[in-house]
Amino acid sequence: MKQAAAVPMLEVEGLDACYGTSQALFGMSLTVHAGETLALLGRNGAGKSTTMKAVAGIVPARAGSIRLRGTEIRGRPPHAIARAGIGFVPEDRQIFADLSVVDNLLIAAKAGVDGERNWRLERVYEMLPLLAPLRSRLGGQLSGGEQQMLTVGRALMGNPAVLLLDEPSEGLSPIMVQRIGDIIETLRGLGTTIVLAEQNLHFCLGLAHRAVVIDRGCNVFTGSIDELNADDAVKKRYLSV
Ligand SMILES: Nc1ncnc2c1ncn2[C@@H]1O[C@H](COP(=O)(O)OP(=O)(O)OP(=O)(O)O)[C@@H](O)[C@H]1O
Ligand SMILES: [Mg+2]
Repeated sequence: MKQAAAVPMLEVEGLDACYGTSQALFGMSLTVHAGETLALLGRNGAGKSTTMKAVAGIVPARAGSIRLRGTEIRGRPPHAIARAGIGFVPEDRQIFADLSVVDNLLIAAKAGVDGERNWRLERVYEMLPLLAPLRSRLGGQLSGGEQQMLTVGRALMGNPAVLLLDEPSEGLSPIMVQRIGDIIETLRGLGTTIVLAEQNLHFCLGLAHRAVVIDRGCNVFTGSIDELNADDAVKKRYLSV
């Protein structure tokens, strides 16, 4: 019998995805183990968001496999993938502008795949203290940074097995970037399994255990974050550093 610990939390293999006739992913692959933070790095247009959207079922994957704890989830609709344990924080945030902060959170509440409800309202407010005094504020009245906190809180309310964060630091002030970094560090400390899409390698140092670099829709590097940071050729070729 296979040891449970040997099965990756999320395993993406040979993923192809298209927007109409334009192909964006070409055999993309990545593996995340339980409790690990994986940085998904690449330039503008490399395919980071498409990879996450394909995993979340928002963009259809034409080929390949997406296994969550060994179970194939490719081809399932987004709500079923969310129920299976994928929590997605999209780059465009997509909070409900006409709902209050608390309603944005409650609408996303669900038990985890094993019935666990580790993340409830009180705990999300503890984790994201900035949100607590804003609980009655409408989503549309929040600043960019506050909205980003809300999207993270909303994803946690679903008690995900894997958290996909798409460029959470993008467009935020340095202080909010720092706060988002602190939150990811805390989640990592709690043993959360995270995929962190970023253009900014520096932001991922100290947060991610391992890194995958994507370029033109395929994986061009897999290694530890420190190995990547030490690899000037890969950084120069595929990242804007
Ligand atoms: N809705 C869409 N329709 C058509 N093509 C798209 C669409 N979204 C993305 N693409 C294309 O797919 C490719 C991958 O884009 P993607 O958004 O996944 O990149 P990314 O790595 O997330 O970039 P960024 O860092 O700018 O967010 C790009 O060539 C992009 O132009
Ligand atoms: Mg993107």
